[in-house]
Amino acid sequence: MLTEQQRSRIRACCKDEQDFTTVLEIIEAERRKLEHSKTDFFSEVGHELRTPLTTIQGTLALLAKEVAGPLPDKAREMVEQAIKDSIRLRDLINYFIDLQRLQSGSAEFRLQPVDLYRLLDQALTNLRPFAARRQIRLALDENSPRVRVEADPDRLAQVISNLLSNAIKFSPSASTITAEIGRSGAAGRFSISDQGPGIPPEIQQRVFRRFVKADTGEQRQAGGSGLGLSICKAIVEGLNGRIWFTTAVGSGTTFHVELPAATPHPAPAPERKAAAHDPSP
Ligand SMILES: Nc1ncnc2c1ncn2[C@@H]1O[C@H](COP(=O)(O)OP(=O)(O)OP(=O)(O)O)[C@@H](O)[C@H]1O
Ligand SMILES: [Mg+2]
Repeated sequence: MLTEQQRSRIRACCKDEQDFTTVLEIIEAERRKLEHSKTDFFSEVGHELRTPLTTIQGTLALLAKEVAGPLPDKAREMVEQAIKDSIRLRDLINYFIDLQRLQSGSAEFRLQPVDLYRLLDQALTNLRPFAARRQIRLALDENSPRVRVEADPDRLAQVISNLLSNAIKFSPSASTITAEIGRSGAAGRFSISDQGPGIPPEIQQRVFRRFVKADTGEQRQAGGSGLGLSICKAIVEGLNGRIWFTTAVGSGTTFHVELPAATPHPAPAPERKAAAHDPSP
């Protein structure tokens, strides 16, 4: 994106408005080309990193199964830690490539009407076993209206799952996480609230940026790459929506997402029936 100052400097060098428009078009085309080659580069690097990582993970899994002989306790611990680290590294590579694709505009969204209630209900069901390990209850407000938004269901499910995973990760045991659905004007919205520690004030302004994580001991221990929320923001904005949060240190956080309402899709043309056979002579 050009700044106002850059635009004025270009305008000053152009002899008329048409020249100015042409120069802007050329710059924009070059910018897109650059973004695409950057994305290609990251995808290639990602692939090159993932291939040996898969082999390392395979070897570690075999060691853990004691295929190469019994392991002393200390060695087993070390192998288990290495497996956890290799999973973190794989997630980090995948997240990073995904974010790059989203931010460069080369991710494609398959837009269609999405029933928010169904999508949230499914996400909560998927994560309940994980939350139950710490007696955390996941609830969907039953009075929520049925709202349909225009979105890519897989990408929106990714946003919901990231927000719920954060809520679970940062919530105290035996607390409740609640999802609610609503409308604001023509737009649909949903929110996910937890009873966790809140987002520390020093990162609130930057929390949607890459690799930003709270520095407090407890939150750092929770683990994670600090990419989840930047991916959520890139997806929601790619879907022409917005994401924001309200938080109170010590009592909880709510993430809100607003998305355009579903546009009525034209009904499929009625199939033409074969002409009825007329038995009359
Ligand atoms: N519900 C929440 N309650 C308290 N803090 C939160 C919450 N959600 C996010 N944060 C803070 O924002 C930081 C960034 O979140 P983000 O999801 O981007 O990264 P992460 O969860 O640390 O790692 P990743 O999602 O990449 O595994 C978190 O590390 C945490 O400090
Ligand atoms: Mg996260």
